[in-house]
Amino acid sequence: MRTIITSVVATAILIIAGSALAVEMPADVKAKCGACHAMDQKIIGPSFTEIAKKYKGDKDAAGKIIANVVKGGSFGWNLGSMPPKGLGASDAEVKSASEFITGLAK
Ligand code: HEC
Repeated sequence: MRTIITSVVATAILIIAGSALAVEMPADVKAKCGACHAMDQKIIGPSFTEIAKKYKGDKDAAGKIIANVVKGGSFGWNLGSMPPKGLGASDAEVKSASEFITGLAK
């Protein structure tokens, strides 16, 4: 009996830990950016994980990403051109999305 309880608890902990690791895009980011960006795979634009890697260790990463998202265009990924502010993101959404991306760099 004790082993059953122990394994049930262990499984539950693994499930909780697993879902904490899979970071989801916040809903507003998904709405304004998700048509072209995914967390882990390239769609039209690079994945947010790849972008976070590009800026890893850069102290001014959030500032640079905000500036690029606001002006749009090409940033060296050779995937074409991004529309300024994606699909009509507000300044606050650009800021929170950019901070979300830099937060992915570990
Ligand atoms: C219509 C498609 C589209 C939408 C919508 C879009 N992007 Fe992009 N994004 C792109 C493409 C394409 C690139 C890569 C451009 C290149 O080849 O350099 C890109 C690149 C980027 C980069 C990389 C910048 C760099 O410095 O390397 C960031 C950050 C980014 N997007 C953030 C966002 C955010 C945040 C949103 C939502 C507010 C968003 N994008 C919405 C198409 C899109």
